Amino acid sequence: MVHVRVMIIFDKQDMSIKKGGLFRPPYFPLSGQISVDSLEHILSNATYGADPIVGKILEGYTRLDPSVGITNCRVILVSAYGTQVLLHPSSPFVLIWLFLPLSIIRGLPVKYNADRKPGGVNLLLVTGGAGYIGSHVVLGLLDQGREVLVIDNLSRGHRELAGKAVFEEADIRDLSQTGKIFRKYPIDGVLHFAALSLVEDSMSDPHSYFRNNIGGTMNIITSMLESDIDRIVFSSSAAVYGEPRALPVKEEAPKIPTNPYGETKLFIESMLRRSFEAYGTRSVSLRYFNAAGADPLCRTGEDHSPETHLIPIALDVVMGRKEELKIFGNDYPTHDGTCVRDYVHVADLADAHIRALEGMEKGTLACEAFNLGNGKGFSVLEIVSAVRSVTGIGFPLRFAPRRAGDPAVLVASSDRAERELSWKRRYKDMDEIIETAWKWHQKRFRPRRRY
Ligand code: UFG
Repeated sequence: MVHVRVMIIFDKQDMSIKKGGLFRPPYFPLSGQISVDSLEHILSNATYGADPIVGKILEGYTRLDPSVGITNCRVILVSAYGTQVLLHPSSPFVLIWLFLPLSIIRGLPVKYNADRKPGGVNLLLVTGGAGYIGSHVVLGLLDQGREVLVIDNLSRGHRELAGKAVFEEADIRDLSQTGKIFRKYPIDGVLHFAALSLVEDSMSDPHSYFRNNIGGTMNIITSMLESDIDRIVFSSSAAVYGEPRALPVKEEAPKIPTNPYGETKLFIESMLRRSFEAYGTRSVSLRYFNAAGADPLCRTGEDHSPETHLIPIALDVVMGRKEELKIFGNDYPTHDGTCVRDYVHVADLADAHIRALEGMEKGTLACEAFNLGNGKGFSVLEIVSAVRSVTGIGFPLRFAPRRAGDPAVLVASSDRAERELSWKRRYKDMDEIIETAWKWHQKRFRPRRRY
């Protein structure tokens, strides 16, 4: 017997409760399994309108009081083949119900977006897709044969890094600009990277972080709601945890960010959770530790201005683009006195984003957060020695005072992502990670001396 899974997501918390007290505002979608026969039975008995259908589904699948009346909810059917159909009971597309069982019985994969604008299939919006991590995800999606639209204000990103994706220069701080993009393109899902991301910078200019990160994300969510787009992968950060109390850091660890950057990421995660609870907007927040390396085919890589990250700065010194590497602090309670971080390859990060998206498409993920790291810590001095060994070039370094806000050790537990996203890292070896960064660095930045 073929089964479909039914997920009922409440759009708003203003559902009416006519009788009984079974429903409180739900915080998770209800789901259950039904057979195609019962689905057909329900369909043939349903009067097409909002409450009767939903009421019958609830009655049939979740054994709740049938007299409970629900308004403003959406129903997602997920077939055994992973096909999803999203229905809004009050939408004119409700008749698509009639076709679903047939398709399942025939075993045909159905691609249908009931409440999408016509003409668009699987168009994904990547905000900040001309930046470091975003551009790797764009490549991953394009490599999968997906259609990708990038928006970026190019304040930090580089147009050419967005590659062959459709590109629109737009600023997410401006709701009229995001609204225009969402009206123009039949977007199916969002991968959201556009943000400011420098810890120190966020201390001296917090307002810019609130405006870009929180304000920008509010505009994205507003536009998603207006266009009925219900899935987003969000670029979060290890910065949500602040100074870890236990290592490796797990997802449930206390979240006490020590800087405005981390605070904005944490607040956005909370916005996404509330949007899910209230409107059914699915989201996966990915908390990266230290992204490193570059596309193995050298199509994109790291190019920040100013550059603040350890590996590209070390490579800059190797290439003579900087005089020396300053090591911030050698009196930390670590084996060599320098900070320990968890460096994870950016292509592995990109892979996790695609898995997160697929999880939402298949209906296995609704509102989640995952750590993404390599599971192993490297000290600053160990990174220096790996850079020297990969490039074969020695370079000057100097010990400098600690950088404000740097925790001594940050290492992730990525067990959850491995388990629930079936995420497997291809790059575990530090030399291999640095080799990809080095290849990119040589291609991107013209050598000036020493090298
Ligand atoms: N470091 C140096 N010299 C440099 C640059 C960095 O010694 O010139 C050290 C830092 O003090 C730190 C380590 O190298 O100990 C790594 O620093 P990065 O700047 O490369 O990365 P962070 O660990 O500071 O930042 C990362 C992410 C942020 C995130 C933060 C969470 O890039 O987005 O982790 O703590 F917010």
